[in-house]
Amino acid sequence: MLGKTDKEKGMVENMSRETVIVIDFGGQYNQLVARRVRECNVYCEIYSYKTDLEKIREMNPKGIILTGGPNSCYEPGAATCSPELFEMGVPVLGLCYGAQLMMQVLGGKVEKAPVREYGKIEVMVDNHSALFQNVSPKTVCWMSHNDYIAQIAPGFGICAHTADCPVAAAENPDRKLYAIQFHPEVLHTVEGMKMLSNFVYQVCGCAGDWKVDSFVKQSIETIRNKVGDGRVLCALSGGVDSSVAAVLLSKAIGSQLTCVFVDHGLLRKNEGDEVEAVFGPEGNYDLHFIRVNAQERFYEKLAGVEEPEQKRKIIGEEFIRVFEEEAKKIGTVDFLVQGTIYPDVVESGLGGESAVIKSHHNVGGLPDYVDFKEIIEPLRDLFKDEVRKVGLELGIPEYLVNRQPFPGPGLGVRIVGEVTDEKVRIVQDADAIYREEVDRAAVSYVKEQGTAAPWKPDQYFAALTNMRSVGVMGDERTYDYAVALRAVKTIDFMTAESAEIPWAVLQGVMNRIINEVKGINRVMYDLTSKPPGTIELE
Ligand code: XMP
Repeated sequence: MLGKTDKEKGMVENMSRETVIVIDFGGQYNQLVARRVRECNVYCEIYSYKTDLEKIREMNPKGIILTGGPNSCYEPGAATCSPELFEMGVPVLGLCYGAQLMMQVLGGKVEKAPVREYGKIEVMVDNHSALFQNVSPKTVCWMSHNDYIAQIAPGFGICAHTADCPVAAAENPDRKLYAIQFHPEVLHTVEGMKMLSNFVYQVCGCAGDWKVDSFVKQSIETIRNKVGDGRVLCALSGGVDSSVAAVLLSKAIGSQLTCVFVDHGLLRKNEGDEVEAVFGPEGNYDLHFIRVNAQERFYEKLAGVEEPEQKRKIIGEEFIRVFEEEAKKIGTVDFLVQGTIYPDVVESGLGGESAVIKSHHNVGGLPDYVDFKEIIEPLRDLFKDEVRKVGLELGIPEYLVNRQPFPGPGLGVRIVGEVTDEKVRIVQDADAIYREEVDRAAVSYVKEQGTAAPWKPDQYFAALTNMRSVGVMGDERTYDYAVALRAVKTIDFMTAESAEIPWAVLQGVMNRIINEVKGINRVMYDLTSKPPGTIELE
């Protein structure tokens, strides 16, 4: 039986690892801050501002970063922090709201700014400050604030300003406290990475030991120690995350590992067979591979259910039930492996302060009672690009590692409303055509232009809307579903823009879908960016 205390276990494990902590005040860039720190080869985790200070202290962080946030720090009830946070002797960097809060808590003054700054703004920095070492004296930064630091706290000096903002940055180098009004984590801040790197290396004195090869070595050791001679069951979906997790586990414990692949009937067209071809007995790996064809079971549970969160929970729960049954067949199973990654943890509301957007499969969807001793989530601390790097380090072929992501609940969240086997068939066929045509067009582009197509999306798929409309096919009236084509450009899947796939390609896709997929008479292109949309439709 498992309690959901992995987060706490993680905290203890991390004590020995050089860690910078991001304290989240609800800002939209909280994950980005953590990613940027990791890009500096320093491990970083996000915690809510409500986290007990004692817990933070126990983690022995090398540095702390306070994020932006939507509030005004002088309003009653606004997110705040204890002055003790600044007395632990740990370097602190406040960003935007975090900067204002630091000033206010330490005796400065924050007020509504006479001039609101938003967008790319030229900032004059004093590069004698450790934070701005090797930064140009005039540098473009991303500003987004209504309040400003009207008066710095005692002991601080101003180390950057703009035409409208007298305190764009302030510092107290003796106490290693730094406050920046703008957002160095956003790429629009041209020299932002230099500033963050200065903070973690010059101010916090980090060594930069967070690297993929050391992660792999350390994980294999941790897994071996944890598992001992126990038996491990891995939930393999064939997606990037669970594939990397499975190969990592197989390197660590070989024959003690059994991989179970559940075909829940919500996979892309032919995907079940493709996964089996790679990981099954005829495939590339020496794994004990079991395929469970559980389509009917999932469709039955999903019958009549329309609400997205409920669908996610049902699929997540049913998954666990299937695993439990498989585990019983195998005999004693001590550990269950899941390919959960860090954004799943944060977006499920278990990490930082951000609102629950979706219960991601494998995390929020986990039932309270699970019939295994423990769950192993070897990738729980990693962002997606880090998972891919780990995959390559493990020797997994590039085409598998760089595959576009596919959500755990699969087509269940790409069929708006009730899921039926008929709808699954429709969306599978439309999606296969769409991906085939986009891939073909992208390859032709490379052949013709000698470079990758600038419009090539990072994730693209067809989703079935729950809308039916009237059409005409031949001389007959139709009343069929509309399919939505989604294609996004994204670096981290946390924000995304819709990709500009050429019109001719889209028209080709539309023609094929209408002609070849029975049940669809309308094709739509989804232009929504994230935010306000999410990438998946549900
Ligand atoms: P959203 O829809 O939240 O998706 O913008 C962001 C990225 O996550 C994928 N996604 C999931 N992946 N389990 C997963 O493993 C899930 O439940 C899940 N939901 C969304 C999505 O495909 C996109 O790449």
